Amino acid sequence: MVSWYPLIHYRSTTESFKIISSLNESGFSFLMTRSVLFWVSKHGWIPMSHGNYCHIWQILRKFQSISHSLNHYNPKFYRFMLVQQSSALKEEILRLKKEKDVVILAHNYQVPDVQDVADFTGDSLGLSRQAATVPQKTILFCGVNFMAETAAIISPEKKVLLPDLEAGCSLADSITIDELKNWKKQHPNAIAVGYVNTTAEIKSELDYCCTSSNAVNVVKSIPADKEILFLPDMFLGSYVAKMTGRKNIHIWAGECHVHAGITPDDVTKKLNSMNNTELVIHPECGCTTPFMYDVADGSFDNNKVSILSTEGMLNHVSKSKSKNFVVATETGILYKMRKDNPDKKFIAASEKAECQYMKMITLQNVHDALVNEKNVVTVPKEIADKARVAIDRMLAIS
Ligand code: 13P
Ligand code: SF4
Repeated sequence: MVSWYPLIHYRSTTESFKIISSLNESGFSFLMTRSVLFWVSKHGWIPMSHGNYCHIWQILRKFQSISHSLNHYNPKFYRFMLVQQSSALKEEILRLKKEKDVVILAHNYQVPDVQDVADFTGDSLGLSRQAATVPQKTILFCGVNFMAETAAIISPEKKVLLPDLEAGCSLADSITIDELKNWKKQHPNAIAVGYVNTTAEIKSELDYCCTSSNAVNVVKSIPADKEILFLPDMFLGSYVAKMTGRKNIHIWAGECHVHAGITPDDVTKKLNSMNNTELVIHPECGCTTPFMYDVADGSFDNNKVSILSTEGMLNHVSKSKSKNFVVATETGILYKMRKDNPDKKFIAASEKAECQYMKMITLQNVHDALVNEKNVVTVPKEIADKARVAIDRMLAIS
């Protein structure tokens, strides 16, 4: 058994020896010199007292939690330790996923460290497609609950893990099953089209599911004389209505708190801060509608505004000849944009646009979910079987 003495000292060598000799029988100490850290990062394991060994990330995690209370706190060293910690954790995750034959899928809004350990990153549609086709029997989903539920519905024979089950979505929460049933009762002949950002229960009441990348095409595939109920995002709904020219579409007044918070004023300020700038907007944004009308009436250069899903944005900025971009969506996407396009400049329309649900997934809980294969997302069979019809229709339309 490893015995812990919960204190790691960063002191001079002489001082450290004094500390070691003052420790009691059950304690241990570890000399944090740069050469030791180098050895540790190469080999991973460090010797402890009583002939036991402990993996470096365990030590570093302990260090992280207590370092703020150390008298001799050294910020430069602390930062160095955190980098060491995340690379040790990443290595361990990569080893575990291979050993256990688990595929890691991560949404484009995930923190950089989590994107780095993923086998696939993408938008909701791309990740759903991956979930349906990957050969692995276990999927570790780094995203939010509705995404993991969608994977579990598409592949009922697979085990789907979500590192933090509390990772929800304010947009998915903006309609309840009773509200949807009542709405449908008021429009008995309407076709219900719902965004993938909904719970499995809501999906089981839909005729079609869609994502931001295929919402327009899904609606176009429905006969023009059919009334449509579009839910739950009002900004995506008005974008779809505008793009399809459809008048018989009823739109639910739901929104995502992150995207609704990006205002036209935020965007205009950022556009004015750089020359020759392109604007890419996610259709869930509160600013989509005003910009869409500006584009339509010619008051904004049509070529310089694109309304796209997260993966659509990534593809667009890589292909575009422009060098400067204002990005109106959750800020997590900037990591991949910058990594894929080091010669281009990307700025967030609003630095406040952070989804706290997406950010609940960390390297640590990804690791823990892999080790314990815990946090399994399941959907009751009767709900999954009904929801799969709408999801399969979504997957069939690009
Ligand atoms: P995408 O489907 O564009 O990745 O968007 C998902 C989402 O949750 C946006 O907030
Ligand atoms: Fe949901 Fe908005 Fe977060 Fe996307 S960004 S997961 S829509 S709360």
